[in-house]
Amino acid sequence: MSALEKLITQAEQTHRLTREELITLLTDPQADTLLFAAADRVRKANVGDGVYLRGLIEFSNYCKNNCCYCGIRRDNSHAERYRLTPQEILQTARLAQTLGYKTVVLQSGEDPWFTADKMCEIIRQIKQLGLVITLSIGEKTREEYAAYRQAGAQRYLLRIETTDVNLYEKLDPGMRWHQRAKCLQDLKELGYEVGSGSLVGLPGQTAESLADDLLFFKQIPVDMAGIGPFIPHPQTPLKGESTAWHFTLSLKMMALMRLILPDINIPATTAMETLHPQGRIIALQSGANVVMPNVTDVRWRKRYALYPGKICLGEDATQCRGCIEGKINAIGRHIAHAPGFHGEYLKTHKKSAR
Ligand code: SAM
Ligand code: FES
Repeated sequence: MSALEKLITQAEQTHRLTREELITLLTDPQADTLLFAAADRVRKANVGDGVYLRGLIEFSNYCKNNCCYCGIRRDNSHAERYRLTPQEILQTARLAQTLGYKTVVLQSGEDPWFTADKMCEIIRQIKQLGLVITLSIGEKTREEYAAYRQAGAQRYLLRIETTDVNLYEKLDPGMRWHQRAKCLQDLKELGYEVGSGSLVGLPGQTAESLADDLLFFKQIPVDMAGIGPFIPHPQTPLKGESTAWHFTLSLKMMALMRLILPDINIPATTAMETLHPQGRIIALQSGANVVMPNVTDVRWRKRYALYPGKICLGEDATQCRGCIEGKINAIGRHIAHAPGFHGEYLKTHKKSAR
């Protein structure tokens, strides 16, 4: 057995890797195939073959922030701004429910129009449909997070983007890394299922900082982790950056995440499919167990352009649901008809084995 094989086998059994070991696995291309196969086995043992679907509702592309990588940043005057009304958000959630989704993810730029009161009202109404609500609306005060939780939101996605503090504060001007980390801590303390994640391939990012990202997620510990390849948007300061390594590196981050946090939810992100026609399926075979198909009306989808080449711009919510189900079934997996809380699979599995 080679040293790499030994390291991966040990990680598969103990779910522990040191910073140095993570760096080795991230940087050695010979680890790739072994790593993806090991992550797939750990995924099967800890979260099963079911794939959880989350219906994504992109409800506003207004944003008060100016992240250098993001297509809907404040200073992108070419972005055609839109904002769904609370009624339209509710209608979209109803559509998601009709299509069989158990969870909706409400995502937007940091749009001050949606005050805490407005958000809470939207959450309460969607909650009445029996859906689990995930929010992905950025940095808020602890009081606001508490109010959303009280109104019925159960999950929150907030990527740390990178644990390299200097890089983060350079690429997210006006934002503070420790503030973002504090938000994650607040969310955890308030009883949310917390999702975080990294953008992979940012200029200046190193294997060392990616290893630190993984250790940061383990230390929180997160309930979900979304790893997205960075794809440069032409109307941002990072236009023209290469994406040559981003797909494989993101896949490796996902696989390592599965090895060290065996039972969390890991989405096969949409951006993966922008870089590779089978991107989400390959991710599902390398550790991922969640897909977030878009339920937003096609009129708005292309305006929520975080990066170019976004998939499914012409397909409506019904087509997206059917398409992804077909792809999942084709690799011998199935849609899981459960809310998909962290640890749910192992709990049910142990119970039925008794
Ligand atoms: N405003 C919320 C927040 O800050 O968490 C949610 C919306 S934000 C646009 C969602 C995620 O999009 C970010 O966390 C970031 O990782 C990702 N993103 C932004 N620009 C991207 C790009 N150029 N390529 C890939 N992903 C990108
Ligand atoms: Fe939308 Fe395939 S997932 S068309």
